[in-house]
Amino acid sequence: MQGQSVEKNARTAIYPGSFDPITNGHLDILSRALKIFDKIIIAVLRNGSKEPLFSVEERMSMIKQVTSGMNVVIESFDGLLADYVRQKETNIIIRSLRATSDFDYEFQMAVMNSQMNREMESIFLMTGKEYFFLSSSVVKEIASRGGDVSWLVPPVVAEKLKAKLRSSGSNNGEE
Ligand code: PNS
Repeated sequence: MQGQSVEKNARTAIYPGSFDPITNGHLDILSRALKIFDKIIIAVLRNGSKEPLFSVEERMSMIKQVTSGMNVVIESFDGLLADYVRQKETNIIIRSLRATSDFDYEFQMAVMNSQMNREMESIFLMTGKEYFFLSSSVVKEIASRGGDVSWLVPPVVAEKLKAKLRSSGSNNGEE
């Protein structure tokens, strides 16, 4: 697939991420992105540097359940995002900006990506203020210590988190 030319569609964008797990903040970005683009390809990173709590299949299954009815396609990718984008029907990626702490990392990633793939454009959408400090890591931290995360993630994700932490014996901070 790599190196093959693909007709590009400006009405589609890719929303890449770890989604471990998907949160209400991700869904907020997704609904904003769908106001601008007709279709969003949600691209779940397969082998990130961090050890994920959920497998790619579990993450994709949760995303599928919470995005039903939305014009999204759910895929996974491995290797460089810049290479994955080259094979897709769009050059545009969506990233979210929360509090100012995201800026350095996102700026670095956008610049490096566009150096590796000159066609690639990164579009940044700001989350609603209620999600400024929400991240998958914070959700996992709260859930692993027995806290309630039902206000941070969709119900199905809250349930999967409970079950996962129960099965790994880490719902009391032992992980
Ligand atoms: O949800 P995240 O963890 O903030 O998403 C980060 C992600 C998956 C977009 C980023 O880590 C990524 O693109 N990884 C793929 C490897 C890559 O291309 N790295 C170089 C970036 S300069």
